[in-house]
Amino acid sequence: MKTIPRAAVIGSPISHSLSPKLHGFWLQRYGLDGEYTALDVTEDKLEETLYRLPKEGFVGANITLPHKVSVLQFADQVTDRATLIGAANTLIFKGDGGIFADNTDGYGFIANLRQNAPDWDPKSGPAAVFGAGGAARAVVVALIDAGVPEIIVSNRTRPKAEALRDDFGARISVVDWVQADMMLDEARTVVNTTSLGMKDAPALRVSLDLLGKGAVVTDIVYNPLMTPFLQAAQKRGCTIVDGLGMLLHQGVPGFERWFGKRPEVDAATREAVLS
Ligand code: ATR
Repeated sequence: MKTIPRAAVIGSPISHSLSPKLHGFWLQRYGLDGEYTALDVTEDKLEETLYRLPKEGFVGANITLPHKVSVLQFADQVTDRATLIGAANTLIFKGDGGIFADNTDGYGFIANLRQNAPDWDPKSGPAAVFGAGGAARAVVVALIDAGVPEIIVSNRTRPKAEALRDDFGARISVVDWVQADMMLDEARTVVNTTSLGMKDAPALRVSLDLLGKGAVVTDIVYNPLMTPFLQAAQKRGCTIVDGLGMLLHQGVPGFERWFGKRPEVDAATREAVLS
């Protein structure tokens, strides 16, 4: 009997995840047999769930909050990227029962910039990163890979930014949160990785007076698409890229591995996910 490949996004809470819409759209678009659902799984049930899913026809999963870090302990094979970041968002259940874990957030981050700011040149100058949480780690690794010569990080809790510098090396420097605007001088790439600007959260408010108009400014927040931070950057004359594309692109490698077709991220994909 032919079984339909199944995948899911696993997290808690999970009802707001856009991943089922994204993967559902791609499955339909390419006429593929497959199923993608959302599973609300709490920390105490994670191991048992990961053990059970392959037996129920699951070929893999996306992992979201709060399991991105803890899931690594249940993986048999972890990519260098995921090890370096210290978190995984994409799992592949192998035929032999093993779990392969990867992190595609950095890929999604870069692919979003390349698609929506085609003139972006990571090598053209320093990057300024707001935040030092899990998302910041993926973004910093991706920026280093892309050849950004220098990365300045500022975080409300300074020791977390310093830990990031200690982990990722000499190209990174840290600026105090109260002086975060100082890192915008000469920055060519600016990224908000904090949750500031999210619906119902306060905005990221920082003076953009030192920021050059040639900078590319992006936000990992995608609800709302146009954060107050992006609005201010646009007003300043910078190229802005919203965070939805990062979510869409990070889903590409998993979908390809699970369902056998590399999906395209385009305007119709965006519309499907926003509908
Ligand atoms: P994620 O995995 O999405 O990065 P996280 O690890 O919880 O989530 O990180 C959230 C980031 O947003 C952190 O950089 C956090 O700063 P702290 O390390 O000081 O907590 C930042 N953040 C959240 N709320 C903030 C606020 N009100 N002001 C400044 N930074 C905030």
